[in-house]
This record gives sequence, C-alpha cells and structure tokens, in this order.
Amino acid sequence: MAVTKLVEPRNVDLSPQDRRDIAQRVGTILESSYQLLLASQLVHWNVKGELFLPIHQLTEQHYQALFETLDILAERMRALGTEVPTDGATKSFSVEAKLDGSSMVKMVEQLIAMHEDAAKSAREVAGFADDHDDPVTNDMMMDCLKFHEKAIWMLRAIVSK
Ligand SMILES: [Fe+2]
Repeated sequence: MAVTKLVEPRNVDLSPQDRRDIAQRVGTILESSYQLLLASQLVHWNVKGELFLPIHQLTEQHYQALFETLDILAERMRALGTEVPTDGATKSFSVEAKLDGSSMVKMVEQLIAMHEDAAKSAREVAGFADDHDDPVTNDMMMDCLKFHEKAIWMLRAIVSK
C-alpha cells in the first residue's frame, strides 16, 4: 500500500518518522485483511458438501470479525496522523482473492495459508510497534494475532481427518 503521507501533526511521544513507519505497516495489515475478508466470503458463498454448515458458519464469523478489524486499523492510521487512501478498495488496496474452487478442502487450505501469512505479519508489526514504543498498535496486532491463530486451528480442525 502506498500510504503514508503524514497529513497531521500530533503532539504525542511518537516521532513523525515512527508514526509514518508504523502507519505504513498497519496499512499493509489493512490490505491483507481485506483480501482475507473477500476470500472468506467466497468460501462462505461457494461451500458445498457434508462440511457445508460448519464452514459456512465459521467463514461468516471470520468475515464479520475482519470487517470490524478493518475499521480499527484504518482509524489507527488516521490517529497516527496519516491518510487512508481514498481510492481504497480499488487501487491502493488491490483486493484480490483467488481461490481454487476445485475442492472444498483446497479452498479451506488456501484460507488457512492466508491466515498463517496474516498471523506472521501481525506478529512482525506487533514487534515493530513494541520496538518503537507504540503499545496501542502493539495491542491491536495482538488482537489480530489471536484471531488468526484461532481461525487456523478451527479451519484445520474442520478439514482434518
Ligand atoms: Fe451469508
């Protein structure tokens, strides 16, 4: 995401450079959360077979949680004094979620892989925020990490034999 013009001053302990760098990373999490939301909806709408109900219900919980997370992340970027690109869901966020619909298990495995990547990114940004004395962003990233790790467990449990 090409964010990160600082548009507003903030008289807080974080330096302008740190605010910009942290917001840039939060923007990256925002972008991947959008992609995961869309992928979760695509699975929710296309699931069939004997696992229909648990996958349909779990993916709905996930895309609803991710929708709330998007707002939290974007508002954190604003609170740090940076813009959120106004062409959001089109250019800058470049939302795309390509799923292999040839089997339900494959689709769920792709979702799991996206949650795994998201968990790694959240952990990295949490560490970066911690290193730069930003407990607020660190706390948000911990929430993201908890969510993704639980999602991985539940999705895996549904498709495991
Ligand atoms: Fe639905």
